Amino acid sequence: MSTIKRDGFGSRFGVLVAVAGSAVGLGNLWRFPYMVGTNGGAAFIIVYLAFVIVLCLPIMFSEFVIGRRTQSNAFGAISKIAPRSGWLTIGVISVVASICIMSFYSVVGGWTLDYIFKSFSSSFLTSDSSSLSSQFSGFTESSFVPVIMHLLFLAISALIVVAGVKNGIEKYSKILMPVLFILVVILAIRSLTLDGAMEGVKFLLYPDFSKITGDTLLAALGQAFFSLSLGMGCIITYGSYVNKKENLFKISFSVAAADTGFAILAGLAVVPAVFAFGIPPGQGPSLVFITLPQIFAQLPFGNVISIAFFFILMIAALTSAISLLEVVVAYFTEELKMTRKVAVVVTFVIIGIFGTFSSLSQGVLKDFTLFGKSIFDLFDYTSSNILLPVGGLLVVLFVGWRVKRADVLDELTSGGTVALRKSLFTGIMLVIKFLAPIAISIVLINSLI
Ligand code: PFF
Repeated sequence: MSTIKRDGFGSRFGVLVAVAGSAVGLGNLWRFPYMVGTNGGAAFIIVYLAFVIVLCLPIMFSEFVIGRRTQSNAFGAISKIAPRSGWLTIGVISVVASICIMSFYSVVGGWTLDYIFKSFSSSFLTSDSSSLSSQFSGFTESSFVPVIMHLLFLAISALIVVAGVKNGIEKYSKILMPVLFILVVILAIRSLTLDGAMEGVKFLLYPDFSKITGDTLLAALGQAFFSLSLGMGCIITYGSYVNKKENLFKISFSVAAADTGFAILAGLAVVPAVFAFGIPPGQGPSLVFITLPQIFAQLPFGNVISIAFFFILMIAALTSAISLLEVVVAYFTEELKMTRKVAVVVTFVIIGIFGTFSSLSQGVLKDFTLFGKSIFDLFDYTSSNILLPVGGLLVVLFVGWRVKRADVLDELTSGGTVALRKSLFTGIMLVIKFLAPIAISIVLINSLI
């Protein structure tokens, strides 16, 4: 047993904003719109929504159950229930995936920081896309500023994490999340009222299922896991700080609804505007950074909107980054018995170095590729399309087949204080035991073939 006194969330609202803060991030505002754009619009969204409801919710319940039951970091949680077993792979995946994700996440977080500063200059916003494009590649390919921005972003996240759960993560999330919501709503309204925005709305509403391939399915699954922070122990870790009385269902539904709402809002803020200005939606990861400034340039108060947007993106990235760091820091403090400060410094150094390589792989290290991917893409692809789905698969198998059924019931009913129909519980267990593992395996195997 760990002798360290554990920190915890101070209130229900605090839990909600912290978990929603982890879920809502670059995944919603940067990744989701361009994934929708490159994967055919409405059809991708429908598959995505189906995955969220059928697979992600049961995985989220499962991660919460493990975390709150054991009151431990992801690795410690598994080892409390199944010591020295192969299930510890879940703990290993958690720590490795957190480091992998942060190694590109923090770089993109750094880009958002830089774009806030850039937005202050009136010459930044131009309607000339080739100039914006070369401005973006010129910046991301350089060896100095993006690395400094990555380290700055990482340092801000680390400072929040060092303050602990209640004083750090919860306090900042409480202020940052509502601000974020209001700003995205304003942007979506602005985008939807542009001339020609209807084309974009149609793209988001009318599905063309012929666009769905095995790779699209995996992309949608990876995106759903990434966006909801699943499959890598983040919700196990946050779940361990949740009070025994809280209703895990309510939290899971609220978080999934908030995250999906943010993704759709981001889609509504970006895609109609992209169509209104005749920009190809399949632009890829640069969509936000190249296309939006062009859109801002053609809007009244463009600089103000631009500053607001990149500020939103940075805030969203920050509340997610702190949850990613917390997975590693909780592991270092509880398993390796480091103090919180030392754990944060060690994590900062590891991700600082990996992130630097990932940033440089946009420029000087561009030609250094593995399996045809740059270091940056490798961190992104490996985590979203391999580690998270495999982690999610192992988590449902673990809760379905290894954790005692009575314990799962006890957690889902918060020690018998929350009513749960027997048929609903049986249904959830069937999904966790059979449907979710089979569906994830099919998507993984299908894309391998
Ligand atoms: N969910 C975050 C986003 O959408 O940006 C990213 C993320 C955070 C992924 C935490 C995984 C995680 F554990």
